Amino acid sequence: MSRTIFMLLGAALLPAVSVFALPNPPTNPADSNERPQGYMPYSTPASDRAQAVIDVFRTAWDGYHTYAFPHDELHPVTNGYSDSRNAWGASAVDALSTALVMGQKDIVNQILDHIATVDYTKTATEVSLFETTIRYLGGMISGYDFLTGPLKGVADKKSNIDALLSQSKSLANALSFAFETPTGLPYNTLDFTTRTNDGSPNGLATVGTLVLEWTRLGDLTGNLTYTRLTQTAESYLLNPKPASSSPWPGLLGTNINVTTGEFLDASGGWVGGDDSYYEYLIKMYVYDPERFASYRDAWIAAADSTIAHLTSHPSTQPNLTFVAAYDGHKLKLVSQHLACFGGGNFILGGQVLGQQKYIDYGLKLVDGCHDTYVKTATGIGPEVFGWDSKTVPKGQEAFFKEAGFYVLNPSYDLRPEVLESFYYAYRATGDPKYQDWAWEGFQAINRTTRVGSGYSNVNDVNVAGGGGYGDFQESFWFAEVLKYAYLIQADEQEWQVAKDGKNKWVFNTEAHPFKVARA
Ligand SMILES: *[C@@H]1O[C@H](CO)[C@@H](O)[C@H](O)[C@H]1NC(C)=O
Ligand SMILES: *[C@@H]1O[C@H](CO)[C@@H](O)[C@H](O)[C@H]1NC(C)=O
Ligand SMILES: *[C@@H]1O[C@H](CO)[C@@H](O)[C@H](O)[C@H]1NC(C)=O
Ligand SMILES: *[C@@H]1O[C@H](CO)[C@@H](O)[C@H](O)[C@H]1NC(C)=O
Repeated sequence: MSRTIFMLLGAALLPAVSVFALPNPPTNPADSNERPQGYMPYSTPASDRAQAVIDVFRTAWDGYHTYAFPHDELHPVTNGYSDSRNAWGASAVDALSTALVMGQKDIVNQILDHIATVDYTKTATEVSLFETTIRYLGGMISGYDFLTGPLKGVADKKSNIDALLSQSKSLANALSFAFETPTGLPYNTLDFTTRTNDGSPNGLATVGTLVLEWTRLGDLTGNLTYTRLTQTAESYLLNPKPASSSPWPGLLGTNINVTTGEFLDASGGWVGGDDSYYEYLIKMYVYDPERFASYRDAWIAAADSTIAHLTSHPSTQPNLTFVAAYDGHKLKLVSQHLACFGGGNFILGGQVLGQQKYIDYGLKLVDGCHDTYVKTATGIGPEVFGWDSKTVPKGQEAFFKEAGFYVLNPSYDLRPEVLESFYYAYRATGDPKYQDWAWEGFQAINRTTRVGSGYSNVNDVNVAGGGGYGDFQESFWFAEVLKYAYLIQADEQEWQVAKDGKNKWVFNTEAHPFKVARA
């Protein structure tokens, strides 16, 4: 995934800067000869690694099921829960496709029994069209594709399979008033009780990350209204206005006036708030190359402009490649954990288009994001990092020299993007180095975030132990981190990303696999 809104209104990409000194030089678990506590041997075969990820999944599920189900998420430190996603059971729905690919039949059926009971037409709290689409609609559609396809025998009750589709329709119908605007561009923040919206501009990622889920739903149900609503919205992104909002061909601004259909700025990048718009351009082409050739062309324009204009090498480690953000033509040498999906997306694009240059570029981005993991004290990369030699935070000069980046926000929110890109790199190249990187990264995450009844976000990846817990286990821990950590070690299956670019499945931004239209 990529996704969450990092900056909606603020055109500037200004992360919360935390200036801190490093008491000790960071140690890199992968570089030391001794295995730190909590790590399994390097030689662990892939099948045992895959089983170890399943064990972590079951531990996390048990904690959630005991203390939080059917609420949205577990607070693992205090054994509490919260409902930040409308109290429809976000962690359960997000865990479904992971439980399916891992073959955890008992958990699959617990989740299916829950989904059949949800009332998606009601919620007391504000609804994000984007988050609801990628987590709930995505999770249910993926479950439906698996349970009516290659994993047919897994559900105990047939009525629960039918419920996945009827509940998807019910949810999409409840959301659809979002599109009732002069342009057809939706509002993102909705109130179901009053059928109103918050009136604020929408964003590139939040508009541009609906079309895969709603098109799949249109194809599965025959109700082409789902398709039309999101493709109309997407048309404002494919033909952006005013021209000044696109500093280079294919690269766009971030905020969009829903009433006029015009962009309000020219700042963006492959970062949160923009990211999954670019991701979905090529994934729509994977989903159906006949209907989505124009999306492919928009991806190629964005990819070529990125290579030509946003490629950046830190002065202290010129071999590393990062992608800069921008405000108009002015580059900002800042990136994010979220943006690390980019390497995998370039690799996917290169594979399906048969263009080695995109694969090679993606692999360089994967190297850069790997560096952000192995150079920190925990072996996990930070939320936000920079490499502008003119603005190195006090106390991080030595770290910048050695690592090639400095830390601007040191937290880790159980995000998947680095493991996700390792996964695409492994699938494209078959090089077991990427399995090893994912194994190291996952063990660092397991060691640092395991607490109480589950896994928690942590405050500081650059102090040993992670600097304290935020007590929040995101639903995408189940949907994404555990899925990519597992799939990169797991056996060949039709839903794995293809090695030859001929994919039978495509993953939504929340890592829920959908059957492609013309498999
Ligand atoms: C098709 O979807 C639209 C949009 O959600 C909805 O209003 C309409 O009732 C649906 N049509 C049918 C036949 O279900
Ligand atoms: C969007 O455009 C409308 C119509 O021109 C205008 O009234 C409104 O203030 C604009 N909103 C923003 C946030 O720019
Ligand atoms: C950078 O890359 C060059 C060419 O591959 C290599 O010779 C050199 O050792 C690398 N430098 C560092 C600091 O990794
Ligand atoms: C995860 O951590 C637990 C201890 O908390 C350990 O028993 C297990 O082997 C670890 N698994 C992986 C894959 O690192």
